[in-house]
Amino acid sequence: MSPTTSRTTPRPRVLSGMRPTGKLHLGNYMGALNNWVNLQQDYDCYFFIADLHALTTDYADTSLLHQNIQDVALDFLAAGLDPGRAVIFKQSEVMHHAQLFTLFSMMTPIPWLERVPSYKDQQQQLTDKDLNTYGFLGYPLLQAADILLYKPDFVPVGADQVAHVELTREVARRFNQFYGPQSRTTAQHFKDGASDKEKMLALEGEARSAVALLPEPKVLLTPSPKLPGLDGRKMSKSYNNFISLSEPEADLRQKLKTMVTDPARVRRTDPGNPDVCPVFDLHKVFSSEETQQKAADGCRSASIGCIECKSWVADAIVERIAPIQARRRDLESRPSVIADVLANGKERATKRAQQTLDEVQLAMGLR
Ligand code: TRP
Ligand code: SF4
Repeated sequence: MSPTTSRTTPRPRVLSGMRPTGKLHLGNYMGALNNWVNLQQDYDCYFFIADLHALTTDYADTSLLHQNIQDVALDFLAAGLDPGRAVIFKQSEVMHHAQLFTLFSMMTPIPWLERVPSYKDQQQQLTDKDLNTYGFLGYPLLQAADILLYKPDFVPVGADQVAHVELTREVARRFNQFYGPQSRTTAQHFKDGASDKEKMLALEGEARSAVALLPEPKVLLTPSPKLPGLDGRKMSKSYNNFISLSEPEADLRQKLKTMVTDPARVRRTDPGNPDVCPVFDLHKVFSSEETQQKAADGCRSASIGCIECKSWVADAIVERIAPIQARRRDLESRPSVIADVLANGKERATKRAQQTLDEVQLAMGLR
């Protein structure tokens, strides 16, 4: 559909956020950002930098926070997020997130938060940080506020975030039960001294006609290919095994040379098995069918060495990210672009968020 075609039905809305962990790596790109770029075709999109969420774990040293936010914003635009097609903003600049979070915190049972799997998992894994904080416990509740403020139909996230969207749905349900339109009118019916049958009918009718105050969003599971890092484990900032989206070509090639391969292929003359080689997982994501075939055959017959095989995958990655890097360099030379995009995003996000917060405050009796 061309941008000038008038639309009779509004497009479904999606919203997602990303913590500013610094320059994005290929795993972040293939696992999330690339998917967001594609969603811009078909959805009304809201994408934000979750800087408040970064503070839940990195509150003790915020010296890198500002630079990390800038880097993520640059990567967003360089990768193809388009302010003409998506609202792109910074979480902390729309104060409604913090306001709705506060209101939700009044009605959310603490055990709901304690039993979110990431709570205990992260506390056990990130032992160098004291995560026994109020903010860290509230992490998924802040996320619920992020989401429900914009009433999205879908939340595009990876499998690791499904529990957070599930909590969001529970919070919405509880909110609607307490403050939604049914709750008041139903109470009315019960005061009237109606017969049981009349009450039942009234309830059913309302259930059908009621538009929830805070609609429950659905997960849109991001298809994310297996993307191993240099040591063969999942590519991750914390394992320091990553290749960044903005990695200079020479560094990228150098890093790939150190990547682990099929451990059984010790000598150049040993045949290898691409099915167990992390380098080949990268081929599957970035290389053409033809190159994949050539690499797999060459590996199994020992007619190529790992160095050559890696150079092919390096070629494919470089080709894929070159246009993104060119756009990033261009954006770096015009620093006001990022500031303008975020200012515009703040304004548009605030309009939406304000509407929801008005409704919420009215429903809760604050107005
Ligand atoms: N918790 C998400 C992550 O770590 C980031 C996030 C914050 C988010 N708020 C959100 C994602 C709202 C989707 C919707 O990836
Ligand atoms: Fe892996 Fe390629 Fe070496 Fe085979 S030739 S072990 S696929 S790096």
